[in-house]
Amino acid sequence: MRHLLGIEELDTDKALALLERAEFHGKAARTGEISPGSLRGKIVVQLFFEASTRTRASFEAAAKRLGADVINLSPSSSSVTKGETLLDTARNLEAMKSHAMVLRHPTSGAPHFLARHLRTSIVNAGDGTHEHPTQALLDAFTIRQRLGRIAGVRVAICGDISHSRVARSNALLLGKLGAEVRVAGPRTLLPPRFGEAFGVRVFDRLEPAMEGADVVMALRIQRERLVGSLLPSTRDYSRSFGITRARMRLAKPGALVMHPGPINRGVELEGALADAPESLVLEQVEAGVAVRAAVLEALES
Ligand code: CP
Repeated sequence: MRHLLGIEELDTDKALALLERAEFHGKAARTGEISPGSLRGKIVVQLFFEASTRTRASFEAAAKRLGADVINLSPSSSSVTKGETLLDTARNLEAMKSHAMVLRHPTSGAPHFLARHLRTSIVNAGDGTHEHPTQALLDAFTIRQRLGRIAGVRVAICGDISHSRVARSNALLLGKLGAEVRVAGPRTLLPPRFGEAFGVRVFDRLEPAMEGADVVMALRIQRERLVGSLLPSTRDYSRSFGITRARMRLAKPGALVMHPGPINRGVELEGALADAPESLVLEQVEAGVAVRAAVLEALES
């Protein structure tokens, strides 16, 4: 694999191969096995232009388990503050002979732009409102681990669909793997023609979307961007779209709850439900290390 830019560009066989390899890495981590060291002597550069806890830490953990050296470049303490462009920054890091560059950027398409100009492999760690491919891979991995399959599983993705790169990547990947994907959110947060573009059913109410779901995935409400313009208040949002124990009764008995994090407890997801046995939140985080190890290992450069 040359780059991982999005699920759109990833064929189904390659996605399945990554999930298989992630199984190996997940087992090795659980049993304390020594990592294969397949990236020994290589450099992985992390370039995060937006905040991150899970993605950044798990890429770093994965790279180190594989024996790579990791450079974490924080734009706020780099020469980006002096006006250096993204491309110049990346070219300078490439000159240090990096194996891969893991990029999170607020602009949709930023990883694709770098991939057109660099030889180093680029991994998209979230670009604007476009895609977050490794999040979708780790979500698919987690569902498959718990349910033993993805094909035929009904997944309801609920919340701010318009601004969610997680919703886009998950709709694409789960669809490719045969799941029945539904999305639900307030009308102001549902992009036009999302259903046709992504092959999913779209609902502007939570209840019909959750009916019979095997998995309910809550998305983060981005308070900083939404309240006042697209949402009256987080309290109103929570009243109509918050995932609660009571609402989970609409889903299949024993249905599972997911959230990519970070969680606004009590807004999009009831705090007690996030910590309940049916919540996969921390299993998703654990899967992130295994999946990202599989991705870093699969890169050509
Ligand atoms: N899910 C996710 O991308 O979390 P971070 O923003 O903490 O990386």
